[in-house]
Amino acid sequence: MTDIPTPQTVAEALAWASDRIDSESARLDAVLLLGRVMGQSRTWLYTWPDAALSETQQAAFQTLVERRAVGEPVAYLLGEREFWSLPLSVNASTLIPRPDTECLVETILVLALPEQARVLDLGTGTGAIALALAFERPEWQVWGVDRSPEAVALAKANSVKLALEHVHFAESDWFSALEPQHFHMIVANPPYIDAQDPHLEQGDVRFEPRSALVAGDAGLADLRDIVHAAPDWLMPGGWIVLEHGWQQAEAVQALLEARGFRRVASQRDYGGNLRLTLAQWESP
Ligand SMILES: C[S@@+](CC[C@H](N)C(=O)[O-])C[C@H]1O[C@@H](n2cnc3c(N)ncnc32)[C@H](O)[C@@H]1O
Repeated sequence: MTDIPTPQTVAEALAWASDRIDSESARLDAVLLLGRVMGQSRTWLYTWPDAALSETQQAAFQTLVERRAVGEPVAYLLGEREFWSLPLSVNASTLIPRPDTECLVETILVLALPEQARVLDLGTGTGAIALALAFERPEWQVWGVDRSPEAVALAKANSVKLALEHVHFAESDWFSALEPQHFHMIVANPPYIDAQDPHLEQGDVRFEPRSALVAGDAGLADLRDIVHAAPDWLMPGGWIVLEHGWQQAEAVQALLEARGFRRVASQRDYGGNLRLTLAQWESP
């Protein structure tokens, strides 16, 4: 990669980087990275195109652009991604939260749940879903579990950063480390991608851990395990809300119906795909 020519202005640095980053969002990526290096907002960068970068800033910017040029996600480079308007720290231990996952939060918030509902987020990762729910419903008792100790540490750090320390995070292989108890709501965005899916070789997912993405049995293994175990952890009338792949709605509905759940229904994500399914548990 050619070095940035020196001296360099904001406009020149952005043009240079946009040219090198191979992404549909190259210009925005460059703006975000330069903003981080210069400690300035996007508005500032647009307002001051002739401002000069120092040599240190140029070197730091070049390093970030080189990493982005080989595909490293911007969120990992910045160490942060917004979810539900909450600035979450992110790292390579878990998935970068996706906008479509906010649909789960929206779906849960319109359900009739008690004022002090007990909610469990399985495979919490950064804590995104658990923290968004705790932010919106401060009276709820929210738990988040993940098998990855690094992800649990990250979720805890996010809860401190967002002053939502009342959310309980713990290391657990799905329900295994939990004390026996019953929840009003179980939500999960588990791994659901088939190991052979070619999308695993494209874009940001190349840098995300396979343990957060891939499940056996054409991507359905973790969804099946969760659906099978969930009734033991739900109050009568409790809900389950699951994110899944755009071709998995029918299969997930069938799993829920076979397990005895009622009111099974799938909903569309922001892209119009059936990407989440909810159901209610009424004890037989
Ligand atoms: C698709 S990511 C979702 C992360 C986060 N909930 C979100 O929506 O951004 C799946 C998460 O499930 C965790 N996970 C995978 N298998 C697990 C298991 N058996 N028990 C608990 N967590 C698991 C992964 O470590 C990962 O953090």
